[in-house]
Amino acid sequence: MLPQPTWINEHGGPDSGPPILHDFSSNANPLGAPDNVVQAIQMADRQRYPDPGYRALRESMALSLSTQVARVWPTAGSSEAIRRLTLAASLRGVRQVWVPQPGYGDYQAAAQALGLQVKGYANGEALLSALASQVGPSLVWLCEPCNPTGQSLPPSFWAALGSLRHQKTGLTLALDRAYEPLRLVGQDPVPAALAEQCWQLYSPNKALGLTGVRAGYVIAPADDEHIHMNDFQALAPSWVVSAEGVAMLQAWHHPDTQAWLARSRQTLALWMAAQRTALARAGWHGEPSVVPFMLARPAHAVGSLRAHGIKLRDASSFGLPGWVRLSAQAPHAQQALLQALTQMEDTR
Ligand SMILES: Cc1ncc(COP(=O)(O)O)c(C=O)c1O
Repeated sequence: MLPQPTWINEHGGPDSGPPILHDFSSNANPLGAPDNVVQAIQMADRQRYPDPGYRALRESMALSLSTQVARVWPTAGSSEAIRRLTLAASLRGVRQVWVPQPGYGDYQAAAQALGLQVKGYANGEALLSALASQVGPSLVWLCEPCNPTGQSLPPSFWAALGSLRHQKTGLTLALDRAYEPLRLVGQDPVPAALAEQCWQLYSPNKALGLTGVRAGYVIAPADDEHIHMNDFQALAPSWVVSAEGVAMLQAWHHPDTQAWLARSRQTLALWMAAQRTALARAGWHGEPSVVPFMLARPAHAVGSLRAHGIKLRDASSFGLPGWVRLSAQAPHAQQALLQALTQMEDTR
């Protein structure tokens, strides 16, 4: 049973409530952002429109990505890209949209807003067997690594999906890479040849701890018989990405940025391990994860943490009541969380 969306999707991070002192509810890198990226954003030229064709940006990204300029387009973040790709698919006759369950709520919301049929899949096997008997064109959302689970689908799944993609026409694969740059464990299981057949959505703002900068990019499939890059691009408003967004995307592939990110993954891995151990001691059950966030089942209700200035992401809207998603935070924030849990325990 898929959870019902409201007109504003539930997200981690700031909300309409009191100030958040320690935010475990957002998956943004708590170490962000590196100095060179901050400086680039500060120097962004806000007095003029960006180039509406984003030519220089696309050329430099295509060079870094070793792909063709025609396949790279900036977006106002992956949330915008999800809406745009879903609309493009719908205009090309797609009526069915497959979404991971649990998964990022915007896939479902975008499809439902257009009256498309949404089907959830709980794991890779379920998706493969459903797609094998599927009739008619469909859009399939894949999130690797997945939010909220923080887990990867196994290489065997990706290999089988690659074979299916060859056998079946009308499958548009959309691969959300929001958290690949924050992978702490293992390697990207998606074969390069299959990634080339997917619409890939990237959100560097998460790894850079700059989620307020609304910019990302897509890489279009090498060959999509169904939806063309022009379809996707024609649905964007002019200047869809701001000058600040352009500056962030320009800086993303710079070696200094990537070196900073590699160092920050090491710190995040330590913070994640410490946090997991401390919460296990407090009686929480934590699910495995390959990124610096995880699903967990607290020992007791934790709703009152918000009054302590601490926010976790309630996982009810993911169809997981009684669970939370929480990201690795700095030692002082972990300390505050543990203290608040002890105080709540004392008053129980
Ligand atoms: C899986 C996933 N995809 C996409 C997004 C949206 O990212 P953006 O900030 O690029 O719109 C999020 C944000 O939380 C996410 O978790």
